[in-house]
Amino acid sequence: MQDQIDQYTAEINAFTPANADELETFRIKFLGTKGIIKDLFEQFKTVGPEEKRTFGKVLNQFKQLAEAKYNELKETFNSELTTHDSEFDKTLPGDGFQVGSRHPLSLVRNEIIDIFKRLGFVVAEGPEIEDDWHNFSALNFPEEHPARDMQDTFFIKKNNGKDDIALRTHTSSVQVRMMENGKPPFRAIMPGRVYRNEAISARAHCFFHQVEGLYVDENVSFADLKQTLYHFVQELYGEGTKVRFRPSYFPFTEPSAEMDVSCTICKGAGCNMCKYSGWVEILGCGMVDPNVLENCGIDSKVYTGFAFGMGMERIANLKYVIRDLRLFSENDERFLNQFQSEII
Ligand code: DAH
Repeated sequence: MQDQIDQYTAEINAFTPANADELETFRIKFLGTKGIIKDLFEQFKTVGPEEKRTFGKVLNQFKQLAEAKYNELKETFNSELTTHDSEFDKTLPGDGFQVGSRHPLSLVRNEIIDIFKRLGFVVAEGPEIEDDWHNFSALNFPEEHPARDMQDTFFIKKNNGKDDIALRTHTSSVQVRMMENGKPPFRAIMPGRVYRNEAISARAHCFFHQVEGLYVDENVSFADLKQTLYHFVQELYGEGTKVRFRPSYFPFTEPSAEMDVSCTICKGAGCNMCKYSGWVEILGCGMVDPNVLENCGIDSKVYTGFAFGMGMERIANLKYVIRDLRLFSENDERFLNQFQSEII
């Protein structure tokens, strides 16, 4: 093999083509798909490991020599040079390219927005850095009230010695901004990112996503709340999905409830997703507390309303059976590529 290479090296060094055709013949001979270099690399595959080490280097140098010679001469004959069609293997597959996919949380958010848009809800957004008023006080969390501990807050700035500016812990803060800045009726959903001071694990994260809903008008009742959310669940998880409401507590709603749906994985039969209960909780909701309406300048004797809030990760978990929250924010392509077939 070494002898062969020496001989070819001499040939290459001595090569002085008279025209572009001769250069092309040179290219095909040494660099073509059935050329000498290709052949030498084939032979190389069969030599022993000891020889591989020495020959690998020699072979690569030889290849570089042939390529350099060709590229140098090509400059000279550039205008004349044409690649022979016969050298093109037209049966080779083209270079593949990968189509991107929507993130599962975007898929879920878009679906939720679509469902509520059809009911006449608009989409609203608010800041992720919030003050105490919009995140807590206006929502009827009195100062020092233990309900504030329900949400482990990332405070980032004090005002007059008191924690004031924080990363919002829920999208309920957007309700307040909406009501402060407008006049009823309000019918909106508010998707966004929220933050809580939690250790990151499969079941908890320091940031996640929620969709808040708000409907305020004259004569809005708990029946409206139930029917709206019932409709939402039928659209999201399919006809026949059961719902149940359990009494709960939130400072900003009275009465408050949590809503469960029949487990979307086992259809209520019992599986480890629903901890064998047949039900999974998907959101918190209730009638907007009159104090909240008044805090936002809305006459609670004239207007009533309902609100709800859900975690998008939870909805996505149930839809796509994702058991580890960390997957949503790691940008692992093996995870993300699995959503390519979903409607874009
Ligand atoms: N803000 C609540 C949370 O983050 C979720 C929530 C519950 C929102 C009830 C609401 C509601 O609007 O009515 O846990």
